[in-house]
Amino acid sequence: MERKRLHPAGPEFSRIITGVWRWNSLSTDQTERLIKESVACGITTFDHADIYGNYSCEALFGKVIGTQPSLRSKMQLVTKCVIMLLSDKKPAHRIKHYDTSKEHILSSVEQSLQNVKTDYLDLLLIHRPDPLMNPEAVAEAFSNLKQSGKVLHFGVSNFTPAQFEMLQAYVSDPLVTNQVELSLFRHQVLFDGTVDTLMKHHVSPMAWSPLGGGKFFSSKGGGEADSGKLEALAHQHQCSVSQLLLAWLLYHPSGVFPILGTTNPERIAEGAKSLEVKLTRQDWFELLKAVTGHDVA
Ligand SMILES: NC(=O)c1ccc[n+]([C@@H]2O[C@H](COP(=O)([O-])OP(=O)(O)OC[C@H]3O[C@@H](n4cnc5c(N)ncnc54)[C@H](OP(=O)(O)O)[C@@H]3O)[C@@H](O)[C@H]2O)c1
Repeated sequence: MERKRLHPAGPEFSRIITGVWRWNSLSTDQTERLIKESVACGITTFDHADIYGNYSCEALFGKVIGTQPSLRSKMQLVTKCVIMLLSDKKPAHRIKHYDTSKEHILSSVEQSLQNVKTDYLDLLLIHRPDPLMNPEAVAEAFSNLKQSGKVLHFGVSNFTPAQFEMLQAYVSDPLVTNQVELSLFRHQVLFDGTVDTLMKHHVSPMAWSPLGGGKFFSSKGGGEADSGKLEALAHQHQCSVSQLLLAWLLYHPSGVFPILGTTNPERIAEGAKSLEVKLTRQDWFELLKAVTGHDVA
């Protein structure tokens, strides 16, 4: 498995990442299997958020780390904060909202560390842009977490280029990623300046829902894609459609890090092998046309 830095001064992650969002209904044994299959395939980076599984997925993962602490040194952990869900576990929340206050960021990280049973996070992301974000407060929280060694690197998720550059103007460390929705089916960030702005700052994007959340497989394209074309290209490259979709992301010069959302160990192994699929420039545009329905201008 290829490893790469998100930014010249950022963390080195496995090029394919395992995401924990959909793990909420899994047993501890199933969770352990997914963790171990990922690590065995060289996928050593795991993407969390405090809210996944109604605030339960980090702790589920932590049950495995708690019983096998040696696993921690073999992995890099990402988590996110600031979304405040309506939840039976959060009776004080009257409405879904965001909280980018210094106090909330610090307490959210403390909770995540306890949940995952670790004393540091490799990367902390601001999960969503908050219209009430005070960048000085975020910068103070980041600086405090860096100095205490609780978080090694910082980034954002779902930020526009202007929001990314605004926060970067206040934070002394480089923001090392913007985790965005990016797949062949949802490729707007490649055309609206989001990824260009990251490249300007030598930052690689992390791609969430890299397979479009799996809708293609349940509805054979969901009306969005020429599934026959995708299957023909997969056949030509002797790979699966999933591997083709991941290879399409990996081809981009920004150095995209796709985050797999599967709960199936076999599909983790399949995803890891997508690095072996070698597309050409014309394959890339052919795949783009298979979802847009037209040639580029
Ligand atoms: N920053 C953000 O705002 C944000 C938002 C959403 C997600 N994320 C992150 O991104 C990660 C990935 O997102 P995602 O789960 O939407 O990713 P995804 O990999 O695009 O979709 C995963 C879904 O596709 C299904 N799937 C995959 N391959 C399949 C196949 N060959 N046939 C049938 N179904 C298939 C999976 O089902 P099986 O489990 O059955 O394989 C699963 O339900 C999350 O875990 C999370 O870490 C971040």
